Order: sequence, then C-alpha cells, then structure tokens
Amino acid sequence: MAYSQAEVVVGGLAHVPVIIGAFWLLNSYVANRTASSSSADSTTAIPSKPTEKAISSSGSSEPSKKAAHQSVPVNLYKPKTPFLGKVVENYSLLKEGAIGRVNHITFDLSGADPEFVYVEGQSIGIIPAGEDSKGKPHKLRLYSIASTRHGDNLEGSTVSLCVRQLQYEKDGETIDGVCSTYLCDINPGDQVKITGPVGKEMLLPEEEDANIIMFATGTGIAPMRAYLRRMFEQGERKKNGWNYKGKAWLFMGAPKTANLLYDSDFEWYKSQYPENFSYTKAISREQNNVNGGRMYIQDRVLENAEEIFSMIENPKTHIYLCGLRGMEPGIDEAMSKAASAKGLDWSVLRPQLKKAGRWHVETY
Ligand code: FAD
Ligand code: A2P
Repeated sequence: MAYSQAEVVVGGLAHVPVIIGAFWLLNSYVANRTASSSSADSTTAIPSKPTEKAISSSGSSEPSKKAAHQSVPVNLYKPKTPFLGKVVENYSLLKEGAIGRVNHITFDLSGADPEFVYVEGQSIGIIPAGEDSKGKPHKLRLYSIASTRHGDNLEGSTVSLCVRQLQYEKDGETIDGVCSTYLCDINPGDQVKITGPVGKEMLLPEEEDANIIMFATGTGIAPMRAYLRRMFEQGERKKNGWNYKGKAWLFMGAPKTANLLYDSDFEWYKSQYPENFSYTKAISREQNNVNGGRMYIQDRVLENAEEIFSMIENPKTHIYLCGLRGMEPGIDEAMSKAASAKGLDWSVLRPQLKKAGRWHVETY
C-alpha cells in the first residue's frame, strides 16, 4: 500500500495531541523536580541522579521532548576538571581470526561528586595520558557509552565503552591512534580522565511500545548495546521497570563473523524475545550483495525495504544510525530506493522524520 510522505509523518502525528498534553504535563513536572537548576541551555550540568521517567525523550511530541531533554545530565565533568575513573576491566570483544582490535572497557564511577550519571545514547570524553607533539596535554576524544545507566553490574556506578584501536599506514609506517590505543592498552586499576556525559541526539523514546530500527557499523554498536540491554536483559528490566513491548530491529555491519560485537548477547535476546527483536547481520568480507560486492547494511535495508517502511509508517518508530560516517550516503541511497518503491520521496520524508525527533544519527 502506498502512502504519501505527509500521510506517513503527519498522519502519525495526528495521534499526538492527546499524548502531547499528557506527556508535557508529566515531563514538565518531572523536569521541574529533577532539574530545577537547569535552563533551556542544553549544556547545563544537572548534578541530580536522573530518574527513570525524567531521562527519556517522548520522541513524538516536541514540548515533552524538550522537557525530557532538559533533565538529561550533560557536562557534569569538563576537560579542566575531569573525573578520575578507575578501570574495572578491559577485554577483547573479538574472536580468533578477527581484523584489528576492539575492546570492552569498564570504568568505576563511584565516589564522584557530583555523581557521574548518564543515560543510554550519551557519550563520554576520555583524555589520554601524556602530551601531544607540542608538549600540550592531549585533547579529549568522545566515545559512545555502551552500558545502560545502571552499568554492566547493575549497581549504577560504572560506565562501559566499546573501542576500536585506530591504526593506519602512512609513508610505509603503521600509525596508532593516540586515545584508542591508550584505551585498548590500559589495565584494571589504572585511572583515566573522564568528561561528560554529553549528547542528546541518540536518546531512546520513553514509550514502551516504540519501535526502534538500528543501523550500526563496527563500534557504532555501542549505544545499541545499551538500548538492547535496557530492553531485553533480565536484571536490567527488573531494575528499570521499563517493560519494552515494541519491535527492535538491529542491522549490524562487521567485516567478519569473528568481528561481530556482543553477538551472543543479541542472539540470546532474539531467542528470548522473537516477537520483539530482529537481528540482521551484514558481514562484508564473507557475504556478497546482489551485485557481487561486499555486503553492507544498506544492502540489507534494500532486502527488507517493505517491512522497514511499514514500520516507519508507524509514528512510534525511531531510526538510529551509529558508526562509520561513510555509511550515511549508502543508507540514504538505500532508503531513497526503498521509499520510491512505496511512492515516497526520501529527500522529503527524512527531514520530516528528523523534525519529528524520529531520525537519530551519530557517525564519526
Ligand atoms: P588520533 O590519534 O586522534 O588519530 C586520528 C587522526 O588520524 C584523524 O583525525 C586523522 O587526521 C588521522 N587519520 C585517521 N585515519 C587515517 C588514515 N586512514 N589515513 C591518514 N590519516 C588518518 N570510537 C570508538 O572506537 N568507539 C566509540 O564508541 C566511538 N564513539 C564516538 C562517538 C562520537 C560522538 C565521536 C565524535 C567519535 C566516536 N569515536 C568512537 C571515535 C573516537 O572519538 C576517536 O576519534 C577514535 O578513537 C580515534 O582517536 P585516536 O586518538 O585513537 O586517533
Ligand atoms: P569493509 O571494511 O569490509 O569494507 P569495523 O569498524 O569493525 O571495521 O566494521 C565496519 C563495517 O562497516 C565493516 O564491515 C565495513 O566493511 C563496513 N563498511 C565500510 N564502509 C562502509 C560504508 N560506506 N557503508 C556501510 N558499511 C561500510
């Protein structure tokens, strides 16, 4: 069935007025309680611990989104006064035969004053030890948070990252990225300068029946891992009281099977919640697309265009992209093709989705 762009987005918005009113009141109330010191400025630090309600965006209503976003903690720790977090663990996420180096790293945040709080979809800054070539302290690098606000141990005082070591060849020499190498090499007990949290682009909507389509390449899986733990990890569900009932669909791109990140967790969620979770992999160096080229997630988008666009017609569907910047044109092209097969114009539809707070991109 063909829909116009206006029908897809505006038609969805037709449900919204009642929800807007209710959510606006709720969020204003919660925001006032938890963020009395905040202003409309999104960089204001809010030292109070975020509550379950206060920290999510509604996604479908501008007033409630604003109110909810105001209460999301940002910049509690700045580059001049970073928090010193102790490394709890640092281990490889890759299997034998994988390309490169990707680690899961967890930091202890306990003892922070103000408390170091964050929500799913945010990032933290890391300031690597040492100095740059000019003898100045290194600048911070951003990393997407891979844990939920409760941390991997559910005790609420850790944060985890998923870090790929940057390595490239220059003039016949292998160059190691400064911060990513520092992070992949650190040991439990080491202390690391952490700033943030930052970012409001990748927050999850509040509705338990929201649909979440995720496009990730490589370490772009970090925020998605946090979302999926929040949705499907048993201890997490008990702790967060958020009884996810929507459909989540992860498209994951990796060069080899051995490079798939958190794969067994996601397979487990799929086995436990087959109605609520789909997991589609694009393994670029082991699978071919229809043209015989490397299989990328945008090829999987084309294969699943009909279902993806049926989901997008639902105003409760949000789309998240994270990972390689280079994937954006490919995803755009695939979405354009898929849209025109339904009689839609993606160049019109995408800005509408963005405006409605349903299109979320963080690429680097
Ligand atoms: P640097 O030492 O800073 O080297 C990077 C520089 O090397 C580049 O600026 C470029 O000048 C040069 N360079 C890079 N590649 C080449 C090449 N092929 N040829 C020539 N020169 C080159 N990374 C993760 O691993 N996980 C994450 O979850 C993550 N999340 C991020 C979230 C956000 C919002 C952003 C903005 C970035 C994120 N990153 C993430 C990337 C991260 O911030 C760093 O950029 C990355 O780790 C590299 O930093 P580095 O210090 O190791 O490299
Ligand atoms: P490839 O490197 O085989 O070309 P990682 O960060 O672990 O390397 O994973 C990134 C994944 O994203 C790889 O499978 C990589 O494929 C793939 N990739 C590279 N370029 C693009 C692109 N333009 N669009 C989508 N996926 C891409």
